[in-house]
Order: sequence, then structure tokens, then C-alpha cells
Amino acid sequence: MEVLKTNIEILSHPVIDNNLAVIRDKNSDCEKFKNALKRITYMLVYEASKNLPTIEKEIETPLEKTICKVFDTSAQVIIAPILRAGMIFCEVAQDLLPFANVHHIGMYRNEATLEPVWYYDKRKKIKENKEKVFVIILDPMLATGNSAIDTIKNFISKGILEKNITFVSLISSPEGIKKISENFEDVKIITASIDRTLNNKGYILPGLGDAGDRIYNTID
Ligand code: URA
Repeated sequence: MEVLKTNIEILSHPVIDNNLAVIRDKNSDCEKFKNALKRITYMLVYEASKNLPTIEKEIETPLEKTICKVFDTSAQVIIAPILRAGMIFCEVAQDLLPFANVHHIGMYRNEATLEPVWYYDKRKKIKENKEKVFVIILDPMLATGNSAIDTIKNFISKGILEKNITFVSLISSPEGIKKISENFEDVKIITASIDRTLNNKGYILPGLGDAGDRIYNTID
């Protein structure tokens, strides 16, 4: 399948590769899975935050004064985890960006239509100056792209600029990437892998199974 998106970064790094192998392995238990996933998430969120604005600040070391760069906290950074699997990304993102607002997005997938159904949308007021509002959407699996599209549309309807939206996923399908790129040219996607395809239930192949079930140990 042709992947149209040009605004996409596939992070390639031995630490990511090694931990991807752990999370793909069906024999990795919940603890192993979560730890490996967090290690990759740090790298993805580092990348997603690399263009956030900074300002200069005078700091006094034990020896002398110096000028350092610190986050410009007059900018609003919104971390938007798509429940429930996105929650694990959220802990890492908050660790790296402690001043960010967390906007939880609750959606589940209607198993018949594969369309997202909203049940939760908790947000803080968004700042007037939209040039300085940055949204990082977190969802471990970019599969059909339906919940990604709905979430992005929702932020755009609140005035957020496409160029300030980054979608972070651990594993993506070519179908999901194509869908985002066809709808939103300027939204950036950061992922650790683009897998082969989706199966008829909307799961990514080879993928890692159901991310939420593996994170929260709810496999029957
Ligand atoms: N959600 C998952 O958790 N896994 C997939 O493969 C697709 C969607």
C-alpha cells in the first residue's frame, strides 16, 4: 500500500529495536511488556517534543551565573492519551513535560463497524494564542486510523493548528498512516514501526496483539 505521508518519522535505534522485539513476543509477561514499552516511549516523546519552544533563563551554578534554555511555559502543551492503552504513554510524557496539561480522550472501538465511540473528553481551557498551543496525541497502536482522525478533528475544531499536532504511536499500520495523511497534511506522525497491514478485525500484523490487554493483563 502506498503511504502518502511525508510528515512522518520512523525512529530507528538499537534500543527501540531491541525493546520492540520484547513487546512483540507473545511470551513477554505484563511486567516485561510494560517496561520495554516505557523505554521506547521515552524516545518517542523526546522526539515529539524536540521543537517545543524554549526561553533563556539565568541560573546560578555553585561556581557562577550562566544562561540556560528552559521550557517556555507561556506555551500550552497538551498531552492527549487515548484511553486506555495511551495511559502508559502518558506517565512517560508527564515525566518529560511536567508542565503539560493532560487531556484524556476516552474512546472504544465498535467491534462491528471498527468506528470509535466517544465516552470521555476531559480538557482544560485552551489558550487564545493558538500559535503557542501544542498537542501530542498518544496512542500505542495506529491501526485503522479512525480514532486518530476523530481525535485530531476534535482538536482542530477547538482551533488547534494542524502543524502543532503530533501523533505518537508505537506501531502503525500503512492504512492508518494513509488515512491521517489524506485528511491532515500537516499533522506529524512519530512511530517506532510501520507494520505490514491490518487483519479483518482491525488488528495490526505482525503487531503485538491488543496493547491495552497486554499492558493491563486482561487477556482472557
Ligand atoms: N489496537 C491494538 O491494541 N492492537 C492492534 O493491533 C490494533 C488496535
